[in-house]
Amino acid sequence: MNRINIILPEQIGKINPNIYGHFVEHLGGVIYDGIWVGEQSSIPNIKGFRKALIDLLKKINAPVIRWPGGCFAEAYNWRDGIGPKSGRPKTVGWWFNNEGRLESNEVGTHEFIDFCRLVGAEPYFAANATTTTPLEIRNWIEYCNFPENSTSLAKLRTENGSPQPFKVKYWGIGNESWGYGGFMTPEDYCAAYRKYSITAVSADKNLYSIACGPNGNDLQWTRRFFDRLRDVTIPEFTKINGYSAHYYCGTTGDALKFDENQWYELLLKAGYMEEMIVQQRALMDSYDPKREIGLIIDEWGCWHPEGSGPSKGAYFLEQQSTMRDALVAAITLNIFNNHCDKVAMANVAQLVNNLHSLFLAAGENLIVTPNYHVFDMFKGHQAGIALRSIVETDKITFTQGMEEKQIGKISCSSSLKGNKLTVTIINSHYSEDSEVELRLFENGLFRINKQVVLKAPDPHMFNSFEEPENVKPLNIAIDLTGRDFNITVPAASVMLLEIDSMVDIPVL
Ligand code: AHR
Repeated sequence: MNRINIILPEQIGKINPNIYGHFVEHLGGVIYDGIWVGEQSSIPNIKGFRKALIDLLKKINAPVIRWPGGCFAEAYNWRDGIGPKSGRPKTVGWWFNNEGRLESNEVGTHEFIDFCRLVGAEPYFAANATTTTPLEIRNWIEYCNFPENSTSLAKLRTENGSPQPFKVKYWGIGNESWGYGGFMTPEDYCAAYRKYSITAVSADKNLYSIACGPNGNDLQWTRRFFDRLRDVTIPEFTKINGYSAHYYCGTTGDALKFDENQWYELLLKAGYMEEMIVQQRALMDSYDPKREIGLIIDEWGCWHPEGSGPSKGAYFLEQQSTMRDALVAAITLNIFNNHCDKVAMANVAQLVNNLHSLFLAAGENLIVTPNYHVFDMFKGHQAGIALRSIVETDKITFTQGMEEKQIGKISCSSSLKGNKLTVTIINSHYSEDSEVELRLFENGLFRINKQVVLKAPDPHMFNSFEEPENVKPLNIAIDLTGRDFNITVPAASVMLLEIDSMVDIPVL
């Protein structure tokens, strides 16, 4: 028997909507042909951005979008992306050696801000800390955030069509500084961070400054970075609001062809996110016991070998997403909800035509992947109070190489907004439905009035331009009243339950 116990008086904290954030990089088909089609395009657009994509992003309440990279950020000069389009240079982007694409700079600062405003999301700028100087980050901040006509750069912004400041709050200092962002040691990066952040913050004390954290759960990076930071700084002079880790679930197999063991292997990798969050936060707590620095996962998702997407490999790092990827998304978001006291923001990589996409687009075509449906089903958790969900689950045993491994069959997160509970349940079993007893620990009566299930007749299924609705959520009629419920969660599926409480639930 599988059992989910939702303990209503045990409230973990408020789920920061930014946990449901996104990421767009100048890479492959993410920006051009992904979000951007150009103002002259026959494809319906607003200020050059795909209207249909904007509408769909608004529907899932996209809270924050990271830009312009990724690695691309580390060779980006923001000045190339401002001013009349005719005068913008064509440049070699970071990924040139992989994809041969030149950067037109048609989408720059003003355009990206337009995109965020159209979607209703906050911009998160990843600033170059490898191939530029602290002064240039400061200049970009001045250009974006200074009041109308206050400085020469603010005047330049007005001349370029935007008198009002953009008020960009989130600024990342470098990307993957342990890797292509300079191959730095934690000590080297710490020295760079101090220089860049003090320069940035001296221009705008309200900005939220994000330092580059580890590759996955690299505890050495975190320890050495914070040791160094503590050693040599007067805390008031090193503002650090966020600390970002990246974690991808890589496959050596194929995005579309996988057997049952490979299905579980990837879901197990998704589950490691929990270990990483708990261990990284515990280590950060030893330096930052009041949790004034937010742990951010600003790149996450599945990374399959290329070529399964509609461009057949033409767009670098484009891949298809099956039900397997949808379960990875759901497992990850459940972990974020359950650890919302530790995670301040997260950005799935990437929004469109790249890695764990929510959309695939080319010319007239735009479809949503199963991942999009997961974000849609989970949106009720945003800004909710996460509740402790204790899951008693059967284990699934599978083989990875020569080893036997296990994962839990059922996982869950739950949250409360007013008197409404949002519960998201995953059955990771490849082929077996699961009977689940759902118990709500609070006096009073509850009514389940909405059930949505994302599943497919075959876990390999995905959406394509030809068959855009192969995988889509189904609303199932339900009206159950009580405190204990028996629910059947289909094999390889994600389920949303919306439950009303008949009594007021205090937020503690
Ligand atoms: O998301 C693709 C790439 O993955 C990003 O540019 C980089 O930060 C990461 O290695």
